[in-house]
Amino acid sequence: MPTPKIPGSAGKSFRRAVSELDPKQAEAILSPRFFGRRQSLIEDARKEREAAAAAAEAGECTETLVFEEKDGKAIVNLLFSLKGNKPSSLSRTLKVFETFEAKILHLETRPGKKETGTSSDLEYLICCEVHRSDLITLMSSIRRVSEDVRTTKEVKVHWFPTKIADLDKCHHLVTKFDPDLDLDHPGYSDQEYRKRRKMIAEIAFTYRHGEPIPRVDYLPSETATWKEVYSTLKSLYPTHACKEHLESFHLLETQGVYSEDRIPQLQDVSCFLKERSGFQLRPVAGLLSARDFLASLAFRIFQCTQYIRHPASPMHTPEPDCCHELLGHVPMLADKTFAQFSQDIGLASLGVTDEEIEKLSTLYWFTIEFGLCKQKGELKAYGAALLSSFGELLYALSDEPETRAFDPDEAAIQPYDDQQYQPVYFVSESFRDAKEKLRNYASRIKRPYAVRYDPLTATIEILDSPAKIQSSMDVLRDELQTLSTALNILS
Ligand SMILES: [Fe+2]
Repeated sequence: MPTPKIPGSAGKSFRRAVSELDPKQAEAILSPRFFGRRQSLIEDARKEREAAAAAAEAGECTETLVFEEKDGKAIVNLLFSLKGNKPSSLSRTLKVFETFEAKILHLETRPGKKETGTSSDLEYLICCEVHRSDLITLMSSIRRVSEDVRTTKEVKVHWFPTKIADLDKCHHLVTKFDPDLDLDHPGYSDQEYRKRRKMIAEIAFTYRHGEPIPRVDYLPSETATWKEVYSTLKSLYPTHACKEHLESFHLLETQGVYSEDRIPQLQDVSCFLKERSGFQLRPVAGLLSARDFLASLAFRIFQCTQYIRHPASPMHTPEPDCCHELLGHVPMLADKTFAQFSQDIGLASLGVTDEEIEKLSTLYWFTIEFGLCKQKGELKAYGAALLSSFGELLYALSDEPETRAFDPDEAAIQPYDDQQYQPVYFVSESFRDAKEKLRNYASRIKRPYAVRYDPLTATIEILDSPAKIQSSMDVLRDELQTLSTALNILS
């Protein structure tokens, strides 16, 4: 159900807002080429899921069989029935495990499902640990002596980073909007631009966690593009951006990190964020896979591009660039509650299925990229894609689009549009409210364990045993004790 109309801060129709603009800006916004900045994590997530399903079906991808991996050893669940239901078949099958030195961790039987079978038909489930390189041969050897060999995919857990340095492995790029491959990219026919973009992206390819982010000497033409985007968007912020964005933006300017005359260096911005909310930046060479991008949020790391859009098209870019990240995302990540909301989406993504990744990406899309919120009875924007797109920021807060109250279950499956303005925007009561709703949503995602981020060691704790839960509770008890002491002092 659409929510009752809330006045946009502009308080006018989209058409009227556009008619009041400089003719050049209005033309850019109304042009069919102007779609604002597009970054579809959702489409990437969907492609990953479809590719994984196809590979699993073809039996080509061992990745889908393994639900845990450590030191080169994979843990797999195998189901099979005996050939001809003969006891000798069982000993031959077990011999295969012995040959491959596969350690059997669990074995159980249950009634078989064959329609023609007798009551003595059994299905076997074996959970075993085997060296990853032996997995395929083990499977084919079992197929030779048993029947109906398959894996229990439903218990599969994808690998995910558990320490912050593991993010060095989370750099799977999606090249959909790469100017080298995308004919519609404004820089496709500009060899100099492509060379420059590649050079800046190289920083990200060689970057390792813990190093300072190398500085880029931006060219005058790049600074000119930044200045145009910066001044144009900044003119809209007082009436269209949420108060958290305005406050952080003001701080970034007064502390000399942001100005229209200089493209900020990621290292300086990262230091600013670390002090404000604990978030840090990490350079990235382009559009990351949805799983890798979301995983980094779990560590309060934001993967940030360093190159800038093509100068011929300052108000449009088909891929994320530093204007989008620095003007849209960074001011919001400096807010503690919003930072927690972002980290919660990341934590919810660790180890979940491709289907859940797709839903979380959609949730990310309708909140962190295109979210609206209510402040003092007016609609304001907090989504980075809105705050970095002049046209869609005007449109989203006009009286044209449909708005609905934020509901994670609804937003996670809402059809989206990555070629035009969104058909619907979700409105949060507050970030605190959005965070609570998200946590409720995340608690219902099926996972055989819960995860917790330990900020002292920058690691992910997997809470899969009473001892680990007890240890985390001890930490919380200490923190509660500190707060209780503070309350006593005040009273
Ligand atoms: Fe973004």
